Amino acid sequence: MNILLTGGLGFIGSHTAVVLAEQGYQVVLVDNLCNSEIETHANLELITGKEMPFHELDIRHTTALVRILKEYQVDAVIHFAGLKSVAESSTEPLKYYDNNVGGTISLLEAMKACDIYHFIFSSSATVYGVPQYLPYDEDHPLVPMNTYGKTKLQAEEILQDVARSDSRWSIAALRYFNPAGAHESGLIGELPKGVPNNLMPYVCQVASGKLPYLNIFGDDYDTKDGTGERDYIHVMDLAEGHVAALRFIEKNIGFYPINLGTGISCSVYELINAFEKSANCTIVKKVQSRRSGDLPIYFACADKAKDLLAWHAKRDLQSMCDSSWKFQANLAKNL
Ligand code: NAD
Ligand code: UFG
Repeated sequence: MNILLTGGLGFIGSHTAVVLAEQGYQVVLVDNLCNSEIETHANLELITGKEMPFHELDIRHTTALVRILKEYQVDAVIHFAGLKSVAESSTEPLKYYDNNVGGTISLLEAMKACDIYHFIFSSSATVYGVPQYLPYDEDHPLVPMNTYGKTKLQAEEILQDVARSDSRWSIAALRYFNPAGAHESGLIGELPKGVPNNLMPYVCQVASGKLPYLNIFGDDYDTKDGTGERDYIHVMDLAEGHVAALRFIEKNIGFYPINLGTGISCSVYELINAFEKSANCTIVKKVQSRRSGDLPIYFACADKAKDLLAWHAKRDLQSMCDSSWKFQANLAKNL
């Protein structure tokens, strides 16, 4: 089977490319490199020992997408390409709607023109908003609190309408919780441009000396130790979840929103403690006031993924910290 990955050189796309290639799928990558590096392509071919065609392309360029879908006789698309900064989405909403919603429409149009109806979408736990109960299951109300989350929800709504309009469509919207970790080789990992927004890449850069200290955004929440709690999921588990979803949509038509999380809630301090063991260091930290828009705690109900996809996360927090640190240390060596 030939699979097109949009945003294939990004954090989650690159790890999914490895697992797909290892399982015998032919992988084609497109990415406009707005948040990734071309070197990742060579590393993917190094890890897998396989050729992986790559095209530098913006997914809003529908006619170019059609050419690629035809050239490689693509059977299914996994759509990772998107912008993901919650903060930037509130200052640049048009950029986010254009890229995340407009980009998805362009891709669906190109697929339809080529009679391709198998689609996996990178959605996010952020579509749920303030928890009315926990863990979030897929029936939880969808009230995102920020523009980024709204773009993901709008894309999901479009996908649901598209699936209703034509019974050939088979679509999974995978709602990721907090991806972390890296491939065991240390060759690919999370490579944000600029100062990281997310906890794990920030901790990595403090450990390597690139940043002076970690801001703890609030230690006065009503949580196990006062810091925010999240459901961190190893990016390799997430990657395997996509392969399971691909197998599922090969056999089932319709639209399926599915959480990909562990069901385990972990605090900022717990993550730092685990990381300090991995990197054998002490993370310098400063407690700050709460970050605007942050929720105290949320985590996944992972039952639907288990039932429909026969998938569950296998790797633990220590393995996320070990692999993240291995990738960061490799980066520092190569500077
Ligand atoms: P990432 O930024 O590392 O990867 C996204 C890739 O898409 C980048 O390589 C970027 O260059 C590319 N891209 C963006 N817009 C594009 C466009 N118009 N055309 C072509 N390429 C484009 O992000 P990631 O962490 O790998 O996330 C992948 C997807 O998962 C995103 O859609 C993101 O919103 C979603 N998601 C991520 C997280 C997370 O915390 N990492 C959580 C939930 C959902
Ligand atoms: N945190 C810090 N210091 C930092 C960064 C984060 O204390 O420098 C804390 C946050 O306050 C929060 C926790 O660490 O309690 C996790 O924060 P992240 O920024 O790593 O992740 P978020 O849960 O805020 O959001 C992430 C992605 C979203 C995605 C969501 C899905 O940024 O795009 O996970 O669950 F939608």
